[in-house]
Order: sequence, then C-alpha cells, then structure tokens
Amino acid sequence: MKYPKEYLDEIKTRLKVSTVVSKSVALKKRGKEFVGLSPFKNEKTPSFTVNDEKEFYHCFATSEHGNIFDFVMKIQNLKFGEAVKHLAQLAGMQPYMFSKQDEEREKKWKEYQSIFSQYVDFYHNELLKNESCSVARDYLKNRSITKEEVKKFKIGYIQKNPNFYEKLKDNYSEQTLTETGLFYLDEKKKIYVERFRGRLIFPINNISGQPIALGGRIIENLDYLAKYINSPETNFFKKGSNLYNLDVARKLSNKIDHIYLVEGYMDVVGLSKNGLENAVANLGTSLTDKQILTLNQFFDDIIICFDGDESGYKAALRAAENSIKELKPEKQISFLFLPNKEDPDSYVNKNGKANFIEFTKQSKLSIHKFIFNHYKKQTENNPSSLAIFEKKLRSIANTIKDNFIKKYVLEYFLEKIAELTPHSNQNKKKFFVKRAKSLDTTKKHFNDSQSLTGVELKEFSLLYLAMNNLNLLQANIHLIENIKLFTEVNKKIFELIIEKLKTGEQITIEDLKLDSQLLEKINKFAPIKHILKNQADDDQKTIELLDDISRDLMNYDLEFRIQELESRFSVDMSETTFNELKELKKKQNIN
Ligand code: UTP
Ligand code: MN
Repeated sequence: MKYPKEYLDEIKTRLKVSTVVSKSVALKKRGKEFVGLSPFKNEKTPSFTVNDEKEFYHCFATSEHGNIFDFVMKIQNLKFGEAVKHLAQLAGMQPYMFSKQDEEREKKWKEYQSIFSQYVDFYHNELLKNESCSVARDYLKNRSITKEEVKKFKIGYIQKNPNFYEKLKDNYSEQTLTETGLFYLDEKKKIYVERFRGRLIFPINNISGQPIALGGRIIENLDYLAKYINSPETNFFKKGSNLYNLDVARKLSNKIDHIYLVEGYMDVVGLSKNGLENAVANLGTSLTDKQILTLNQFFDDIIICFDGDESGYKAALRAAENSIKELKPEKQISFLFLPNKEDPDSYVNKNGKANFIEFTKQSKLSIHKFIFNHYKKQTENNPSSLAIFEKKLRSIANTIKDNFIKKYVLEYFLEKIAELTPHSNQNKKKFFVKRAKSLDTTKKHFNDSQSLTGVELKEFSLLYLAMNNLNLLQANIHLIENIKLFTEVNKKIFELIIEKLKTGEQITIEDLKLDSQLLEKINKFAPIKHILKNQADDDQKTIELLDDISRDLMNYDLEFRIQELESRFSVDMSETTFNELKELKKKQNIN
C-alpha cells in the first residue's frame, strides 16, 4: 500500500522539521538553521543541523540526513507506515484510509486491539490485586519474580472460572470475540470458554507495543496439560513474524548492537530482571527467516541462546541452517550453548549479569563454525564420510542469499575440510602462504632464497635445465613448449628460449642476452643444480627430470585454477563451472 503524495506532503507542510526533531533533540537557532547535539552519536559539540526551509536535517558527525519521516523512522525504529501514522497524528490529521477493504480491516484492528488491551489490563490487575490470585503470586515469588517484572511485562493471571467473556459480549459480536483466539466454543456445553483459564499470561506485543497474542503457563504441574500454550494465529498475529519483547528490545538498538534470541518467555523475563533487556523469544516455534530479517533491521549481532539440553541443541541447529540463508555482510549470527540442563533464565539467576556477559564473550560460536563443528562430529576419516560431509556443507553454503557471504562461508568450509585432509592439501597450503609473502618481498630481497616461492624455485630449475641443454631441447621442443610458468620475469625468459629454439639455429646462452643479475640468481638458487652435479650427463635422465618439473608446474596451475573456479562457483553456482571444476579435480588426482 502506497500513501498518495498529497497526503505525505500535507503532513510535511503541517509539521516543520524543527518541530519534529525538537521532541527528541534540544535545538538552538543559528541563522536560518537550528543546531543541536547529534542523536546518532555521543558528542560534546553540536554537529546536527535542521533546515526548515529545505525540509531536511543533516548530521555532520554521522552523515545522516533526511526528512521528518526518515528522522522518526530512525529515532523510534519505526517502519515507514508507522512513521506516517505517528506524524499524521502529530499533525492532527486523520489516519489515511486506503480502500473499502482497508477500512474494514482497520475497523477490525481497532476492535481487536481494544479487546486485547482490556483483556490484558484486566487480568494484570487481577494478578496484582485480587485476593484469590495469591496462588499465582506465590508461584511467581517462588521463582523470584517481583512485582517490578510483573508490571514491566504486564503479566496476568486468569483464574479457573473466569467470566470476562460475559463482560465483553455486550460490546462486540460473537465473531469478533472468537477471532481474537482468546475464547473458543465448548461444543457440548454450548458456552464460550477462555483458552488461557488457570494460567499466567504473558502478553505478546506487536512492534509498536500493542498486545496481539498471549502465551500462558500453568502454575501447577499437571501432566495432562501443556506447560505453555500460545494464541492461535489470528488476522493480526502470525507466529513466524513476531518475537516476544521485540517492542521493548528494539528501542535499545541505538545503544546496543547485539540481541539475545532465547526460547522462552521466562528467559526474557529472567534476563531482564538481571539487567539484560536486549532479549527476545521466538515463541515456541522454529525460527523463521522473517524473524532474522526483523532482528537484523535493528541489531547487527544476533546471539541465539537456546537451552542446554538436547532439544535446545536441535532447535539451535535448525535455527542455524534456516537463518544462515539471511546472513549479510556486517551482520553476525552466533550461538551460545549453556551448560547442560540450564536455560538462560536459570543461568543468569544463578550467575548474574556480569558472568552471563563474560560467558557470552568466551563461548559464543559464529554460525558457520557451529554448522561446521556439528557436521564434523558426525564425520569419520574415510573418503565416503568426508565426501558426504563436504557435500552437506556445500549445500548449506549454497542456500546463503548474499553472494559475498556465500563465497566466504564456502571458502571457510573448504579450508577447514582441507585441514582435515592434510596429505592431499599440504602442497596447496605451503604454496599459498609462501606465495603471498614473496610477492612483495622478491624484489626487495633479490638475493635471498628464503623469499623465493616453491613455484619460483621450480621455474629456476626449469630454466637452468633448459639453458644447460639447449641442443637437447631443440631436438625435443614438444617436451617444453606447453609448460606454463607463473612468475612474469621467468615466463619472459622461457618464452624467449622457446622462440630462439624454434628458429632452428644453433644457439648458446650468450645469444639469449639475459640480464646478468637474473642469470646469476638462477645459477645460484636453482635447486636442480645439486641433483645434476651428482649425475652423469645423460640425455634420458635430463628428460626425466624435465618431465618431473613440468608435472609439478602443471599441478600448481591446476591448483590455481581449482581455487579460482571454487570461488567462481560459490558465486555463480552454474553447472558449467561445476563440471569444469570436476574435470580439473580429476586431472589433479591423475597427476
Ligand atoms: P521451556 O519448557 O524451555 O520453558 O519452553 P521455560 O521458558 O524454561 O519456562 P519455565 O522456566 O519452565 O517456566 C520454552 C518455550 O517453548 C514454548 C514456550 O514458548 C516456552 O516459553 N513451549 C514450551 C510451548 O509452547 N509449549 C510447551 O508445552 C512448552
Ligand atoms: Mn526455564
């Protein structure tokens, strides 16, 4: 639904930017503009400016700027639609009605909201004041939940035989009341009963803080009753879209960059009681992409902290595989596993806030590490098990929507797998580490063999062998003409040699007119000279050595191309790239 421009413009004309901004920032007039301390940054000298004429604000400290809608969205963490509603009200305008259908829905929403508010308030007051709710108050006291938490979370208690339906039915239709999910028809007795009777109730609010659903806990252990029940889905409550306590936690996102995602209502309450208010719960269903996206709108770092038991672990794994899809650059998802049998509520009550924070720092595991570790545990060190392992990790990485993240997660997985199979990957590792180091150091330390890479040394051997056997190679040019070199200087010399050999004229080293310094270096460092020294001058032996070197260089080349294709595949996922990759790996195995 899109607001018409006139409606938005009217809001803008009625509200000056300075009027809106000054509700949260103290402004001083300076010339045509206003200045104040940036609300986006902790600062001592004002760098935040407002220009009513141009209808925008600008923050020189953070480069944030925009109009009144941007400002309200940013400051209050509202969505655009909510900002419009909020500002329209401030401007004294009617909320915008989109169409007949929207009007209808708006009316239903008003009723729904009003029923829920009355319901929640009523039972909250009952819990606080009604003499006959003392069982519930005792229960809470036993769990060391004080009045403060009861008020903060508007917890309520519904007695065993409630009659609030009777009070509401004069003002609302039967249909409206049943559509809230708070009541259902007892077919036998033909009466409406309250779904949450005999339970403590935890209001679940929408992002703006209005109650739209409930969670209810029994207070005595009865095997035939579920410990918790939650509201069914309604017109205005969709389970995978909401999170318990998000309305409160999101307001902290200007100050705190991480959010704890826990399993239960009591975990949120327990953390809050211990001074950790940046926590939400996902309401007893598995975590959805939508919930991750919502949390990421406000927080850069999501810490998923599920119970320290088997079902908590399983839920975490499901959450990891599901939420890795949404991983974005600059956003993090990590997991915190509590000691056995603990949940966040019990842990923080036992150990306190500081310990919980420290524990988080020490023990949180990033999502890709958790996934890797989990599947590694199930893998044995044999080809078939490793193949299944690699396949699984690749398929998980492939679900990641962001291409950059996909690439890096895949690389992380492949690198970790390589560490598990040291034999097949030893060369690769050494080669890359050394190469990276040598690129900028070769030039500086021209005479230092330490700075030469494995590839360069191989190339020196090839050049040394070629220069000392020019006649032999001229007769067998097919043996060397397809060898690929990597280092620019060496490559040039090698091409020059081949070119000269191909002319068919007899040549000597001098004819090559090589840079004397380079020649000296080859003569000094080519490892092959030590082998040749101990060996009779034998053409067959020389050709064998040449073969070895050329195979080694070919392997370097394959290794390079495989790495290249692997990163390409992580981005394009195309069949062609995959087949090419398969071919190269096959070749590598043959060599
Ligand atoms: P837990 O069983 O871990 O409860 O369920 P808890 O949070 O530790 O609660 P206390 O400490 O025993 O009071 C975690 C969440 O799973 C959902 C609820 O959302 C609950 O908060 N759940 C649990 C249900 O929906 N139904 C159940 O029967 C149990
Ligand atoms: Mn618990």
